[in-house]
Amino acid sequence: MSLNLSADRPTAPDDADDGVWLECIDCGATFAPFDDVRYTCDDCESLLEVRYDDLPTFEDFEGRGVWRYADALPLEAGVSVREGATPLYEAPRLEDDLGLEALRIKHEGMNPTGSFKDRGMTVGVAVARELGVDRLACASTGNTSAALAAYGSRGGMETLVLLPAGKVAAGKIAQASLHGARILEVDGNFDACLDIVQELAGRGEAYLLNSLNPFRLEGQKTIGLEILEGFLADYGAVPDRIVLPVGNAGNTAALYKAFRELVQAGALEESEVPKLTGVQADGAAPMVEAIENGADETRRWDDVETRATAIRIGNPVNAPKALPGIRETGGTAVAVSDDAITEAQRALAGEGIGVEPASAASVAGLRKLRNEGIVGGDERVACLTTGHLLKDPDAAAAAGNDPEPVPADTASVLEHLES
Ligand code: F0G
Repeated sequence: MSLNLSADRPTAPDDADDGVWLECIDCGATFAPFDDVRYTCDDCESLLEVRYDDLPTFEDFEGRGVWRYADALPLEAGVSVREGATPLYEAPRLEDDLGLEALRIKHEGMNPTGSFKDRGMTVGVAVARELGVDRLACASTGNTSAALAAYGSRGGMETLVLLPAGKVAAGKIAQASLHGARILEVDGNFDACLDIVQELAGRGEAYLLNSLNPFRLEGQKTIGLEILEGFLADYGAVPDRIVLPVGNAGNTAALYKAFRELVQAGALEESEVPKLTGVQADGAAPMVEAIENGADETRRWDDVETRATAIRIGNPVNAPKALPGIRETGGTAVAVSDDAITEAQRALAGEGIGVEPASAASVAGLRKLRNEGIVGGDERVACLTTGHLLKDPDAAAAAGNDPEPVPADTASVLEHLES
C-alpha cells in the first residue's frame, strides 16, 4: 500500500484523462476516471483514489469556496450552490479553558445545506453528470441525504436516499424531503442501508454517492486546504493538530490525502503535517478500537448507539485510507461519552457557535486528550465541527434551557424574572 506521507509524486498512466486517473490503494491498478462507473478496484476490490500528475501548491489556488481549489480537483467546475469558504472561528474562552496555545473552530455547519457533505457533493454530482447517470443514491445518517437531495436537484437528477428508520435528526429529513429526494426508511442501521445501496449501485440501479465514492473525498480535501491557509494567514504556520469527528472516516481520509498531495508537490514539509486526531462516540467506536489495537482493519460493530446520530456507524468504509492517515501523521483516536458530547455542544454554543452533537464530539475528544496530557498546552489546534445546530433541533432543545411560560403582561413578566 502506498498511503504514506513520503510516497513519491505519482506519474500518469496511459489511461489518465487530462492528467487525472483512479488508482487502487492496495494493488496499484489504474483506471480511466470518467469512462465507466466504478467505486472499487476491478482486480482486488480495494478502495480507489483519484490521482493527478500535476499537483498544485498554495500559489495555484484562486477564487473562493471549494472551486478555489480546482487545480486539486478532478474537474474544472462542479454542480455548485457556493459551498466551502466556511469560517475558522476563534473560541477564546474554550481555548483558555482547555489551556491551548491556540484553538480554532472550522465550522462546516456554515455550508449551504449545513454540513461538510456539500463539498463532496459539488464534485461527486458533477462527476455523475460527466458519467451520464440519471439516478443518484446514498445511505445516510442524515447529512449526506440532505446534501445529495440539494445537489442532485440542482443538477437535475433523480435522488434516492436510504435512512435508518427513527435514527435521523428532524432537520436532515426535512431537507431531503423538500429538495425532492425519494426517502426510503430502512428497518436497520446505517451500515445495513449502505449494504443495500452498494448492491443497488452494483446492479446499475443508481450512482452511489457515499464516501466510498473516491470523487466525493476530493471535494472534502478542501476542508484541510482551507484550515491550512487560515492558520498560515493568522499564525504563519499550519496547525499542529486537527481534531475531527469520525463516522465512515471519509474526512479523515480526505484530509490525509490533501496533506500527502501538498507534501508531494513540495508545498508542505512532512514534519509540518498536522496530527489527524479522530473522535468517536463510546457506543460507535470501531476506529478507536483499531487504533488502540494496532489493527489494519476495523471490526464491524453490529450494535451501535449514540446521541450523536450522525456518527452512529459500526463499519467505517474508509478505514483502509484513514488508519494510515492517523498513524502516519502521529495522531490518535479517542472515544467520548454522550454526556461529554452534550457538554461540548453547550461550550461551543457559549461561544456563539451552534453545532449538532456529532460535531461537538471533536471538542469533547480534544478535552479528553488534553486532560490525559496527550495533547500538549503548547499546541495550536483546529477542531472540525461538521454540522449546524439546526440539523438536530431536538438535541439542541434537550441540551439547552427550557422555555418558561409567562402571562401576557409586563408586571407578570417582571415578577417572573425576579422569582
Ligand atoms: N459529522 C457529521 C455531522 C456527519 O454527518 C458525519 C457523517 C460525520 C461527522 C462523520 O464523517 O463519515 O467522514 O467520518 N455523516 C454521514 C451521513 C454518514 O450519512 O450524513 P465521516
